[in-house]
Amino acid sequence: MKILVIGGSGLIGSHILKAGQAAGHEVVGTYRKFPQPGLVPLDAADEAGLEKILDGQKPDAVVHAAGWTWVDGCEDDPKRAFAENAEQPANLARLCQQRGVHFTYFSTSYIFDGTAGLYVEDAQPNPINVYSKSKWEGEQRVQEECEGAALLPRVICVYGAEAQKKNFAYQVWNALREGKTLTLPSDQCGNPTYAGDIARWLITLLEKRERGPWHLGGPWPDCTRPEWANKLISAFGALGISAHPNFQIKTLPTTELKQKALRPLKAGMISTKALNFQSTDFNESIRELVQNSNF
Ligand SMILES: NC(=O)c1ccc[n+]([C@@H]2O[C@H](COP(=O)([O-])OP(=O)(O)OC[C@H]3O[C@@H](n4cnc5c(N)ncnc54)[C@H](OP(=O)(O)O)[C@@H]3O)[C@@H](O)[C@H]2O)c1
Repeated sequence: MKILVIGGSGLIGSHILKAGQAAGHEVVGTYRKFPQPGLVPLDAADEAGLEKILDGQKPDAVVHAAGWTWVDGCEDDPKRAFAENAEQPANLARLCQQRGVHFTYFSTSYIFDGTAGLYVEDAQPNPINVYSKSKWEGEQRVQEECEGAALLPRVICVYGAEAQKKNFAYQVWNALREGKTLTLPSDQCGNPTYAGDIARWLITLLEKRERGPWHLGGPWPDCTRPEWANKLISAFGALGISAHPNFQIKTLPTTELKQKALRPLKAGMISTKALNFQSTDFNESIRELVQNSNF
């Protein structure tokens, strides 16, 4: 199978490129602002560019692992959030549908309001911030364009090796090394999920030409941020990365954190679509992250 990954320079997209290749598929990835070796430039706002890459590469499957993922940024600029998270993926989905190409749109458990987690695939979405609203609209518009055939993996709290080193595992690693104070919400829960696992699971779903929502979450759906940070600290410690003496964690309830966008508090997911997906051991996933990060 030939897989085209839009957002190949991002956290999830880069892992999908690796996993696709490891499973023996042909993969092509794109970047927008951050060039990576082997990736081709593409802005999803450029419809002619989308047609050109689809007709030039002739993929069997397109994975949209892109969009605007900064939750508080989206709150300030809803127009951009809806353009990049809903309108652009829907355009791409239409172009894929016209060509008989399988389409995947990455979504999030933030489409739920976080009052009734753990969420299963057919739970009722009720997004409470601009990012979440744009993602829920993206899901619906993509599925409409694909006449129900689009695959909609939902993910949350994703970590793993990443060229831009921005995910939570790096935030903890940096704070550990530099002796900073990490201020974390005490009451926001979700599944820490290894990008390498999401990528392997996705390849299986693509091979089966699956469709509809799939909850791709790690093994601890009720994990709070401080609990996740402590798991990371002990995994880094097991690799000989110890904490600077000034490092500390401060926890606050979300109501006192003054984040711009509202957050769903219990946003953890479980899946009712048993495919027996196995998660990588947490310490092993952190060992892979450290090994694949050049500092
Ligand atoms: N990470 C999480 O915890 C999480 C949780 C829930 C849902 N998701 C969803 O999963 C998807 C991937 O997330 P991620 O964390 O891997 O994101 P990421 O690391 O921020 O990467 C985003 C990727 O999309 C590309 N991109 C952004 N806007 C684009 C545009 N207009 N046209 C073409 N490419 C564009 C970026 O390219 P450049 O970097 O080269 O500019 C980058 O490759 C997103 O749809 C996100 O909503 C992620």
